[in-house]
Amino acid sequence: MFSASQQIVLASGNPGKIKEIQAMLAQHLIVPQSAFNVPECDETACTFLENALLKARNAALHCRLPAIADDSGLIVDALNGAPGVLSARYAGIGAGDQDNLDKLLEALNGVPDAQRTARFICAMVFIGHAEDPCPVIAQGAWEGRLLGHAAGHHGFGYDPIFWLPDQQCTSAELSADVKNSLSHRGQALRHLTALIKARETI
Ligand code: IMP
Repeated sequence: MFSASQQIVLASGNPGKIKEIQAMLAQHLIVPQSAFNVPECDETACTFLENALLKARNAALHCRLPAIADDSGLIVDALNGAPGVLSARYAGIGAGDQDNLDKLLEALNGVPDAQRTARFICAMVFIGHAEDPCPVIAQGAWEGRLLGHAAGHHGFGYDPIFWLPDQQCTSAELSADVKNSLSHRGQALRHLTALIKARETI
């Protein structure tokens, strides 16, 4: 049985994610998995959702606590959905953001503007324990277009080429607060926290 005020382990060491999730689930203590020396698990699945579940189960198993995990990436229509779940390692294992961005720009070289549609996807899950048969699941999607050059210095990953027609800028030109209010991750997090709170009241 999961109840308010219980600790939740977050299957991420990203301080930005911890801060955001802690702010939205103030009645719980969100603890990064690094505090428990949880070994990283391989993200071997072909969907964001399954990878998020793998990470959450790994964290819950090692910590014997409820867990939250997310998995996200960029889906490019002109590339049949690539880089998708491989977004973090598009240019190879150990590749950095700039390598991945350069590879994507090269893959899109010559693709006309109208066909440069893409979206960021985030799957975020909560499980009460490692064998929870009924995970809480939320997904967010953020539509944009891909530029042929980088613009902006905020954010990370593919942000400098992710053009937002409504904002008339890239996601790397948004402040962190504005990005969170619009992004795939912000959408998934708001949805997930509402679902967790609803589950506590059952
Ligand atoms: P993660 O699952 O949050 O670690 O994201 C996997 C990869 O997807 C990152 O390494 C980035 O390449 C890409 N990605 C996910 N979210 C974003 C974002 O908000 N902006 C830019 N790139 C992102």
